Formats: sequence, structure tokens, C-alpha cells
Amino acid sequence: MKTNDLFRLEGKFALVTGGAKGIGAAISEMFAARGARVCILDTDAEAGEARVQSIRNSGGIAAFHLCDQADASSVRRVVESLVRDGETPDILVNNAAVSHIGTVETTSEADMDRLLNVNIKGVYNVLHAVLPLMKERGGVVLNMASIAGTVGLRERFAYSTTKGAILTMTLSVAKDYLDYGIRCNSISPARVHTPFVDGYLKQHYPGRESEMFEKLSKTQPVGRMAKPGEIAALALYLCSDEASFITGCDYPIDGGFRTLNT
Ligand SMILES: NC(=O)c1ccc[n+]([C@@H]2O[C@H](COP(=O)([O-])OP(=O)(O)OC[C@H]3O[C@@H](n4cnc5c(N)ncnc54)[C@H](O)[C@@H]3O)[C@@H](O)[C@H]2O)c1
Repeated sequence: MKTNDLFRLEGKFALVTGGAKGIGAAISEMFAARGARVCILDTDAEAGEARVQSIRNSGGIAAFHLCDQADASSVRRVVESLVRDGETPDILVNNAAVSHIGTVETTSEADMDRLLNVNIKGVYNVLHAVLPLMKERGGVVLNMASIAGTVGLRERFAYSTTKGAILTMTLSVAKDYLDYGIRCNSISPARVHTPFVDGYLKQHYPGRESEMFEKLSKTQPVGRMAKPGEIAALALYLCSDEASFITGCDYPIDGGFRTLNT
């Protein structure tokens, strides 16, 4: 086999939640570049349409659907329209999530509900709508977890809680759908330089953005944040046929955060 034949996704239909920006955008671009038909589900229509245009400009195939994964009827509507178009997902990347800063005391009930609704119930909504279709011919589910789910980051009570749930949802789906030829894994990144990080620094450290960027970069032993493309490359491997022996696993991609920080 030629090296260029590896990690090809021709003929595959890939759903990417939160694919308009950040890590999901990098995954959408990379999957399309490897031949998949990519369908982005996101709440940000402007960024979603722009991402689709950028993929098409590079010769890829992509579509955007406005979808709030926290709203089961919104997810159902999109999945029903895919069925009408004759599309069955071969790959589902559950990437969309929101973050929140706070300890258990400083997390309001409203913020807790929002994080649970988007990050846990939202992933359930998408799995609940997509897995019955995927069962027909098998496929791959990849869930975006975080190191927060295993190490518990300071002042990320709600966020860490939801990412811990992603790890156990991954195991549950991997076991229940083994006999249907569906693999399910997760990725746990440390800090990745996305618009989310820039927005966070602008909001919380105005005027000190570059100083704080440096500080956050150094929390990874390799001394920097990950690039979205580096997470997308791992996602590509795990969703490709080359990873067909891998299911029920979480993959840290963290610049040594979990093992080398003393
Ligand atoms: N950036 C990091 O440092 C980092 C680290 C570890 C894990 N992660 C995880 O990676 C994933 C992507 O993070 P990111 O940094 O690219 O985030 P981001 O905020 O840059 O992008 C998230 C995307 O999800 C969309 N989205 C938000 N709520 C949605 C909803 N209810 N329905 C549909 N779409 C919705 C947003 O519009 C956006 O396009 C998340 O699951 C996040 O928890 C990120």
C-alpha cells in the first residue's frame, strides 16, 4: 500500500458538531481534504457557512446545518433532513461544547444547567439521533473529551464534570454498539490555541493577553499549546479504517500535561 493511500476517507459521510470554529473546524477541513463529505452542525451560522466555503474552495465537499445540540428537536430536524437526502453518517465527531470558569461555589445553577445541557445532554441528543442510522452499516464515533475529565482542572467544576461524563459515555457506546460494527473513542487534549482561548484572555485579562498566553502555554511541559491541526490529525487516524482495531479508548494529546507535570 502506498503511504498516500493511508487515512483516506473517500466515500465516507462525516458529521462534525461544532465544526464552524476551533478544533471542529480543523477536523472538518482535514476530513474533507482526505475525501470525506463533511456535514457541519453548529449554532454559529456565519462561521459555519464560511467554513463550508473554505472547504469547497479547496476542492472538498461540505455542507452546514444550523443546529443547537442542546435542543433535541433541533438535532432531530437536521438528522431527518439528512435521511431525506439519502445520507447515513459513517463518522460522527461529537466536538461541540461550551466552557465555564468557577468552583462548585461560584458556579450558578443556571451555568451548571447550561453546561450539562450542551456538553452532556447535547452529546446524548446527537448519539440518540445518529446511532440508529449508523447501526445499519457500522461506523465510528469520536467524542471530544479533555484532560479536565481525568485530572480535574482548577476552577473548572462544571466543565470538568461534563468531560468526565464524556469518558464514560464513550465506554458505554463502545460496549453497546460493538456488535453493530461501530467503534467509539475519545480524545483528551490539554490547551489548544483556538478562538475560545483568545476570547477567554480578552475577557479576563484585558491588556495582559500576551503575558497570560505565555503562562497558559507553559502549563504544558512542551512549553506551548496544541494547534487545532494536531488534534485533527489524531481525529483523522481514529476515524480512519487504519484504526479499525481501536475502540473504547481515550487518547490524551497534551504535551506531557498528565505525565510530566510534577
Ligand atoms: N481549546 C482547548 O483548549 C480545548 C482543550 C480540551 C478540550 N477541548 C474540547 O474541544 C472541543 C472544541 O473546543 P474549541 O476550543 O474548538 O471550542 P470553540 O469554542 O473554539 O468551538 C466550539 C464550536 O462549537 C459550537 N457550539 C457551541 N455550542 C454549541 C451547541 N449547543 N450546538 C452546536 N454547536 C455548538 C461553537 O459555535 C463553536 O463553533 C470542545 O469539546 C472542548 O471542550 C478544547
